[in-house]
Amino acid sequence: MPWISRRDLLSSGLAFSAASLVSRAAWARSAEVTADEAGALAAVAPREHLLFDFAWKFIFGNGTDPLRDLNFGYGQGDFAKTGDFEFAKAKFDDSKWRTLNLPHDWAVELPFVHDDEQMSHGYKPLGRRYPETSVGWYRRAFDVPMSDAGRRVSVEFDGVFRDVLVFVNGCFVGRNNNGYAPFEFDISDFLELGKTNYIVVRVDASFGDGWFYEGAGIYRHVWLKKTDALHLGQWESTVRTEVNGSTATLALDSVVMNKGKHAENAGVSWKILDASGKVVATADAPPQSVPVDSSVAFMATARLDNAALWSVDEPNLYTAIVTVSTGTTARDAERVSFGVRTAEFTADKGFFLNGKPMKIQGTCNHQDHAGVGAALPDRLQAFRIGVLKAMGCNSVRTSHNMPTPEWVMACDRLGMTMMCETRQMSSNPEGLAQLEAMVKRYRNSPSIILWSIGNEEFTLQNEEAEEGAKIAMAMTRRCHELDPTRVVSAAVNGNNEKGVSLGLDIIGFNYNLKMPDGYHQKNPTKKIYGSETSSAISTRGVYATDPLRNTVNSYDGVVPWGETPEEWWTFYGTREWEAGGYAWTGFDYRGEPTPYGWPSINSQFGIVDMCGFPKDYFFYYAAWWGKEPSLHVFPHWNFEGREGEEIAVWVYSNLDDVELFLNGTSLGSQKVPHLGHVQWKVKYEPGAIEARGSKDGKVVLTEKRETTGPTVAIRITADRTEIDADGEDLAIIKVEALDKEGRPVPTANNLIGFHVSGEGTLIGVGNGDPNCQESDKEPKRSLFNGLAQVILQSTKRPGEIHIEAVKEGWDGPELTPAKLTITTKRLELRPSVPVPYRQA
Ligand code: GAL
Repeated sequence: MPWISRRDLLSSGLAFSAASLVSRAAWARSAEVTADEAGALAAVAPREHLLFDFAWKFIFGNGTDPLRDLNFGYGQGDFAKTGDFEFAKAKFDDSKWRTLNLPHDWAVELPFVHDDEQMSHGYKPLGRRYPETSVGWYRRAFDVPMSDAGRRVSVEFDGVFRDVLVFVNGCFVGRNNNGYAPFEFDISDFLELGKTNYIVVRVDASFGDGWFYEGAGIYRHVWLKKTDALHLGQWESTVRTEVNGSTATLALDSVVMNKGKHAENAGVSWKILDASGKVVATADAPPQSVPVDSSVAFMATARLDNAALWSVDEPNLYTAIVTVSTGTTARDAERVSFGVRTAEFTADKGFFLNGKPMKIQGTCNHQDHAGVGAALPDRLQAFRIGVLKAMGCNSVRTSHNMPTPEWVMACDRLGMTMMCETRQMSSNPEGLAQLEAMVKRYRNSPSIILWSIGNEEFTLQNEEAEEGAKIAMAMTRRCHELDPTRVVSAAVNGNNEKGVSLGLDIIGFNYNLKMPDGYHQKNPTKKIYGSETSSAISTRGVYATDPLRNTVNSYDGVVPWGETPEEWWTFYGTREWEAGGYAWTGFDYRGEPTPYGWPSINSQFGIVDMCGFPKDYFFYYAAWWGKEPSLHVFPHWNFEGREGEEIAVWVYSNLDDVELFLNGTSLGSQKVPHLGHVQWKVKYEPGAIEARGSKDGKVVLTEKRETTGPTVAIRITADRTEIDADGEDLAIIKVEALDKEGRPVPTANNLIGFHVSGEGTLIGVGNGDPNCQESDKEPKRSLFNGLAQVILQSTKRPGEIHIEAVKEGWDGPELTPAKLTITTKRLELRPSVPVPYRQA
C-alpha cells in the first residue's frame, strides 16, 4: 500500500460523545486521598497528606542571563553557604509574579515558533536556544504551626518537567533531573515553627527527555506530607495477592523508619476494607525495635474469603489501612489501594486475566490533552480512559514514560489494564532510580500487568550491542527484586533475539508484521506481544489526503513502517499465541506531526483527536474490540459541487451483512468479512446514504449520513452538568454547529467565542485540528469539521457556571447562540495547604 493513499474526497466531522461513560459513582474523585478518606485516616493516626497545588506565584527566569534569572548564578558563591538564597526568604518581593494553581504547563501557553528543530516538541520555544521561555520559578508561602514540632515534613512532587532545584527558607534542599519520576524532600530541618515559611522551585526545561511534546513546569500535583518521626517508609507497603479458588491469601509487607531521638518498640497492623468500607480481614506483625535513623521490615499474612476479583469489567478494589503503633498509640498510618487478580502471559495461548483468556486490545498514549498540555486536572484522566473504553480498548501503554498517578488510578478504578513504561533505559544510577520510583510507586495497582524498561533503543537493541543485554538484565533484575509478581518487557523494533531482548521476560515487537511468525516458530516457549503497532494516520472528518493542506484521508492513511487498524488486528487478533498489542496511538498528541511539518503542530496517529473526538478508525475498533453490535458508515454526505462523482463509502460493523441505500434505493448488500469492512463506490447526489446492518437475517442497526444545510445555530453539551465545587473538577463541553433542522454540520469551521461567568473558569480550548495554531487558552476557538471542546473548571464556591457560545468576529449570517449552566456542588474539600492570611 502507498504510505498515504490518495482519495479525492472532502472533509467531514463526527458527532459522538464517548466520554459520558464514566459515571460519577465509578469515579468519585480521582484524588490521592479524598476528604472522607483523609478524615478516616486522621482518626487512626496523625498523618497529614495535604494537596499543595493552590495559589503559587510564578515568573519566567532565564537560561543564560542571571540578571533575568533572579541573579541566580551571577557569581560563584550561590551554594557556598547554607541559608543564603534571598528569593526563598520572607522579605523577597514576589508581588509582580503571576498567581496560578498547579498542575501547570507553561509550554502550552507559549506561542508556536516556525523552527524545524522544535517540531517534535510541537513547535514550542523550549530548549537552550530559547532561554527566555525555558526557565520558570515557582514560589509559595505556607504556615507551619508549632504543633508540627517533632514531626517529619516532606514535600512530594509527582512529576516536574524537567530539571528542578528546591529551596526552603533560604536553604537549598535538593535537585531532580528528569521529567517524569516523582521525588520528595524531607524539609523538616529547614522549617521555622509558628511562622510563615517559603518554598521556591526553579524549573529548567532546557533539556528534553523525549522526542514528543513534554510540557514545561510543575505539571503534576505537589503534596505536603507530615508524619510522626516514627513512620511508614515511602511506597514500602505492599499487598501481594495469591488466589486459590474463592479465597485470596494476602502477603502484607511494610517498612517502618525511625527519625526520632531514641529507639522505639513498634508493631504494624493491617485492616483490609472492601469497596463498601467494611473490614473483611485484619493482620498484625509483632513489635520489633526500630533503632534511630534506621528502617525495619514488617510482614504478615491475611486471608480473604469470597474475594471479589479485579477485572476490566468489574474493577473491584480493596484498601489496606496500614498502621504503625507503639503500645496502644498509633503513630502513623497510610491507605494502600489494591486488587485481587491473576495476570499471566503464556507462550502458546497469550494472556490470561483471572484464568480467562484476554487478548490485549491496547493503545499507546502520550499524556497531553487539548487546552491544558501536559497539566491535566485529575478528571481529564478519567475522561480519557472513558473514551478509550468506549472503543473496547482494554489496555494502555504509558509510552514512553512513567505516568501521572491519577492516570494509573483511573485505570485501577475504571477497569483498564496497563503496560507501565519508564523513561531512561539505563542501569546507571539515574536510570535505576527512575525505574525504582515507578515500580515502588505503582506495584500495588491491579491495572498494571507488565513493566516496560524502554522503547526502541536503537543502539542497545541490536546484536552487536553487548551492553544492551547487560543493561536490560540489570533493569529486569531490579524490577523482580521490587516486584516478583510481574513480568518485564521492552518495546523493541530491532533484533528480538539479541541485545535488549536477551534480558526480557516477554518479547515485545514494534511494527514489522513479518517477524513474529518466524520468531514464534523458532522460539515456541517465548511469550510474545505487540509492544507497538499500527501508526495509522488520519485527520478527523477528512476524506482526502492533501499535502497542501497537511491532511490525511480517514480510510487507509498509514506511515511506511506502520499498518492500518485492519492490517495489524487481522494479524494479532487471529494468532492464539499472540497476547495482543498496543496501537500507536489512542489519542493524538502535540509534536511529531508526521507525515507533515509546519504548520502541523500535533500528531495524526490518534484513533481519537487531541480532544477525544473519534476519528473513523475508532469505529473499526469499536466493531472488533467492543462487545456490542456496532455499525458506522462514512464519509459524511456534504459534497456540494461534486454531484455525479464517485465517492468511496465504507462501513465498519460486526454484524453479518450490511445493505447500503442512496436516497432510499438499495445499492446492494454485502457480507462483512471477519475483522474487515465493506465498501461501495457511490455516485454522489445530495440526500442521504443509509447503512442497514443485519444479524441472523434481521436488521438490527441502521445509520444515516444526510446532506445538511448551512450552519444556523450552535449547540453546547457537557459531559456532566453537575460537578464538584472543589477548584479542581471539570465540565468538558462539546461545541457543535447545527443546520436549521438541528442536524450537526460536519464541515463547519466557524470561529466561536465563549463567555464564562459564575463559579468556574475556562482553562483550555481545542478542536482536534492538527494544523490549528489558535491559542489553547483564549476564550474562543474555530470549530474543526463541526466540533470544538471547552474545558471548564469549578472554583471552590458552590454555585453555577454559565457558559454562552456565540459567533465571534467574522462576517456572515448570524448564528443562534447556545447557553448552558453547570451546577457546582458543595463537598468536603480534600485537605490542602492553606494560603497564609497575609497573602490570601
Ligand atoms: C515509533 C516510536 C513512537 C512514535 C512512532 C510514530 O517508532 O516508538 O514514539 O515515534 O514511532 O510512528
